[in-house]
Amino acid sequence: MESIASAPGKIILFGEHAVVYNQPAIAAAVDKKATISVKESQNDFTTLKSYDLDFEARLNTENKTYELVNGRPGIIRYILEALYQVHDHSPIDIILSTDFPVGSGLGSSAAVTVATLAALYGFHNKKFSKKTLAHNAHFVEKKVQGMASPLDTSISTHAGLIYLGMDKKISRFNVDFESTFVVGYTSRKRSTSKVVNKVSQLKNRHPYIVDSIMETIGLITEEAKMAILKNDKEKIGELMNINQGLLDSIGVNTTELSRMIYRARKYGAWGSKITGAGGGGSMIAYCPTRSGEVYHSLREYDNVIKVNISHEGIILKTRE
Ligand code: MEV
Repeated sequence: MESIASAPGKIILFGEHAVVYNQPAIAAAVDKKATISVKESQNDFTTLKSYDLDFEARLNTENKTYELVNGRPGIIRYILEALYQVHDHSPIDIILSTDFPVGSGLGSSAAVTVATLAALYGFHNKKFSKKTLAHNAHFVEKKVQGMASPLDTSISTHAGLIYLGMDKKISRFNVDFESTFVVGYTSRKRSTSKVVNKVSQLKNRHPYIVDSIMETIGLITEEAKMAILKNDKEKIGELMNINQGLLDSIGVNTTELSRMIYRARKYGAWGSKITGAGGGGSMIAYCPTRSGEVYHSLREYDNVIKVNISHEGIILKTRE
């Protein structure tokens, strides 16, 4: 039996980092996915392969170790942890396919974690709700990263556009917020946990200052929620730019991201900012108009893709 699950990547529109300190955030799923297929293995060991990412590894699911056969997968710890939580350690073959760049800030770790758990539930014929799936995927992310908010795993499970409140409750926006986003990403490797820890150290050194920056990001997110409900595009863009200034102030910007962010604004983005952890990774440009010009202006120097908001969350299929 083969169990196949796919989950979308995400962009964070407002509130990354502040969400780790219980501030609200707004995120959207995008039309790029990670897919995990699981089936019984003919071997007496578990394998993980990705043709898209060009890697292959043998996994030891009992002690969460692996042996690389080919390539250097950054995502493997999430898959191992998900297996550890759910699987009975019988040998299986796992294939990961993605249509978005892993390690680029589009939430690949959350999408892969959600897809892995769902594929394993399917494989073991275990019923689950989206709520349980998002909750368990968040647990896996926390185990791997140390600190993680439930934002990435929630959006990869539920899709659409969501608001995560200070009470950790998730609500979906019941409005037609459709726009193209241009995503520029750097090839510089970065790890979410390292960037999150760096911010936490800055907060330890300057607790009052960093606390009030996080609170201000929270205020921006609240205003943005109202602006999205009213479809006030100008305000949404302006608030993204203010949010960016504060992300810069907590040290998660880079020269490459900055170059893309300002270039995008110059060529017609209504707002632009880092999305996700920063320190490398991705920026987003909000382009209700002129997405073509922004896309081409970034493509001159950087890696770039266009994404749209996706309303398709986790999908699980099994076949004999
Ligand atoms: C990473 O995509 C978003 C952060 O806020 C971390 C998290 O929410 O776990 C930086």
